[in-house]
Amino acid sequence: MYLLGIETSCDETAAAVLADGNRLLSNVISSQFDVHAKYGGVVPELASREHLRAIVPVVREALEGAGIGYRDLSAIGVTYGPGLIGALLVGLTYAKGLAASLDVPLLGVNHIEGHIHSVVLEQRAVGLDVEFPALALVVSGGHSHMFVAERTAQDAYSYRLLGRTRDDAAGEAYDKVAKLLGFGYPGGPVLDRLAPYGNPRAVRLPVVNMKGNRLDMSFSGLKTAVRRFVNGAGLQDEIERRRTLFHDGRPTVDALRASASKVCLDLVASFQHRAVSELFRRAEEAAELEEVESVIVSGGVAANSALREAFSSLSLPFHFPSLALSTDNAAMIAAAACPRYLRGESDGFDLAAQPSLRLA
Ligand code: KG4
Ligand code: ZN
Repeated sequence: MYLLGIETSCDETAAAVLADGNRLLSNVISSQFDVHAKYGGVVPELASREHLRAIVPVVREALEGAGIGYRDLSAIGVTYGPGLIGALLVGLTYAKGLAASLDVPLLGVNHIEGHIHSVVLEQRAVGLDVEFPALALVVSGGHSHMFVAERTAQDAYSYRLLGRTRDDAAGEAYDKVAKLLGFGYPGGPVLDRLAPYGNPRAVRLPVVNMKGNRLDMSFSGLKTAVRRFVNGAGLQDEIERRRTLFHDGRPTVDALRASASKVCLDLVASFQHRAVSELFRRAEEAAELEEVESVIVSGGVAANSALREAFSSLSLPFHFPSLALSTDNAAMIAAAACPRYLRGESDGFDLAAQPSLRLA
């Protein structure tokens, strides 16, 4: 059984082939970082155009990598939301066309559910399994959500929302702070690599306590506190100088570190410390309240080294995806589609892209 996964919800065109539900044969990701980098964030129109350019070669490469042809496919899983409408439409329309021409089932996948399944897939690949009910913390550039995930004997999954960000997503906060400090886009990986060079306790940043649902999160106050500190500490000249490093392409992390003052590195370390504490504290509290059996952390921010380190103090089993499956990919989309395919489910060709699709 060969399932093709397709993902085009944001700025990565991705395709993957999953065999028998747990063997990942190929996982191709074409990133648009360089297209969007000079704008400091994803430009939706450019994203659609790049997906259009990449979708056919990326799928072909995934099939070649798996050593199979189009006719070998059993089904196609594709992201239909949430995400950028134009970007989603490219993947979904292509997937419909391919499914129709091959006469195989089409399965629409919620991108957020996909992130959770990257962990389920990798556990199964090594003969293990995630313990359910599980607390699922999905933290990326588009979302910061916490769910309780349950699984039935038929391998069907259900989700209950426990908390979410009220403003910026965690990854969005990383990206905005990096842009503010002149470290380029995307910001998460760079700030993560710079943070160990600063003192995480040097700059006091606000702890966020939410009124109403205590498990909700907020990251925009943190970003504002960073901006205020930048102005107060007179870091503007340094930041302007650093921005010029991007004129000839993306500088190395070493070059960025060399361009940063001690105060700036302390600020980066303090931001990372605060952001990670906000996430870990809520996950720990939710896991206790809900009496779950394990914790899943996924989405782009799950690649963060300090977040991985923080969870090592948890008294429950916890699972992060490998770095390759933390950020957007199509293996997770194939993995989420698989149980539905095995139960004989499929979606019609009238399935519409849903930019604001929710998981729960
Ligand atoms: O899951 P993803 O690839 O795309 C969305 O669904 O949004 O997540 C991308 C986000 C970006 O905001 C990026 O800055 C962040 O994940 N990210 C990180 C790290 N690697 C990626 N944030 C913090 N630390 C990292 N190491
Ligand atoms: Zn994502």
